[in-house]
Amino acid sequence: MEPIDFAAHRRALLSQLPAGSVLVLCAAEETTRSNDTEYHFRQDSDFFYLTGFNEPDAVLVLRPGQSPESVIFVRPSDKLAEIWHGRRLGKQKAAETLGLDQAFELAELESELPGLVSGAENLAYLPGHSARGDALVADLLTRLRAGFRQGLSAPAQMQDLRPLLHDLRLFKSEAEVALMAQAARISARAHVRAMQACQPGLYEYQLEAEIRHECAMAGARDMAYNSIVGGGENACILHYTENDAPLKDGDLVLIDAGCEFQGYAADITRTFPVNGQFSEEQKALYQIVLEAEKAAVAMLKPGISIKDANAVALKILVGGLVELGILEGEVDSLIEEEAYKPYYMHGLGHWLGIDVHDVGDYRTPDRGRQLEPGMVITVEPGLYIGPDAEVDPRWRGIGIRIEDDVLITEEGHRNLTVDVPKEIEEIEALMAG
Ligand code: GLY
Ligand code: MN
Ligand code: MN
Repeated sequence: MEPIDFAAHRRALLSQLPAGSVLVLCAAEETTRSNDTEYHFRQDSDFFYLTGFNEPDAVLVLRPGQSPESVIFVRPSDKLAEIWHGRRLGKQKAAETLGLDQAFELAELESELPGLVSGAENLAYLPGHSARGDALVADLLTRLRAGFRQGLSAPAQMQDLRPLLHDLRLFKSEAEVALMAQAARISARAHVRAMQACQPGLYEYQLEAEIRHECAMAGARDMAYNSIVGGGENACILHYTENDAPLKDGDLVLIDAGCEFQGYAADITRTFPVNGQFSEEQKALYQIVLEAEKAAVAMLKPGISIKDANAVALKILVGGLVELGILEGEVDSLIEEEAYKPYYMHGLGHWLGIDVHDVGDYRTPDRGRQLEPGMVITVEPGLYIGPDAEVDPRWRGIGIRIEDDVLITEEGHRNLTVDVPKEIEEIEALMAG
């Protein structure tokens, strides 16, 4: 697989900054899990996008048009710390390995950073993103202002990097698409494995374990988010992650899980019968969600918005609910009155990339931005008839979502998650086999 060109990400960003800018960006820090042990480290997404560097605490400084142009501060090489906690790239190797001009140790921040920023007119950073980042910038500005007798000067202008940086992240390069397609393929296989392993009496977390196993064995050690494995009415809790209940004969199970492959996310949902056979009620509701999902995916192409696709999906969902007698009335007015909200209470989809809910402006609250080639979105309509819903009891406790990941192309779109079945007959056949 072609490596990601992180230098190209930096160039694209710097070319859009005004003259006289300096950019300062912090890596993520480790988070304590208990006493002296940490959660598994995950790099800050923006820092990863610009460096590909996966160590905590580093600080990146970019100075377009100046020398050195790219500088990184890293944890020191430390034999004892490395014996206990793991390898560090270190100052000696950091610049060359990461394709940057110069590297310092973090302890040199205080002495070196003011000089690297002094004289800049514009300081670009991520205000309010991390306490450490804010404190670093505040301290830097104080030092620059206090250092005027030594010839230091503070930038007059501050710029929030988000609009530029996050719009760049919205458009995936070929190499990024290849990684996302691989994340999608691995995750699809994991869902297939979970369908094959499923049987009444298993615990939800045991299906989760099947998913994690398949992903790890295929090279994706981390999931892109906490997996949702909800049997029966647990599927009606949108971000259910307890995953601790036994799966019951006759129930559906909803799995929303996707791996992170070399920094890029997949996000797939499938809903299937615990015993391998859909009941009549489950079939009826499932078919509505499936048709809504397929119609929304089918229309995706440049110029269409998530909002447009949601409108099409919504018509099918509401039409289906009317047909089943779960809603009563005329489809357009039910949509107008949002009478479907108790059963479909989330949006159709979201940007997907380094973050599962990726960054980038959706424009307008209802996601009216026109899609363009290189964007990747999810399509994930659902119906959730809670255990207390005021409907015929036979529909209660059924939650269904179907979610695919779709790349927008010049010609239309490419569904990255076709490898996991979603047709009723396909799922039943897979689970019978
Ligand atoms: N996995 C969260 C979502 O589908 O948005
Ligand atoms: Mn999902
Ligand atoms: Mn999603």
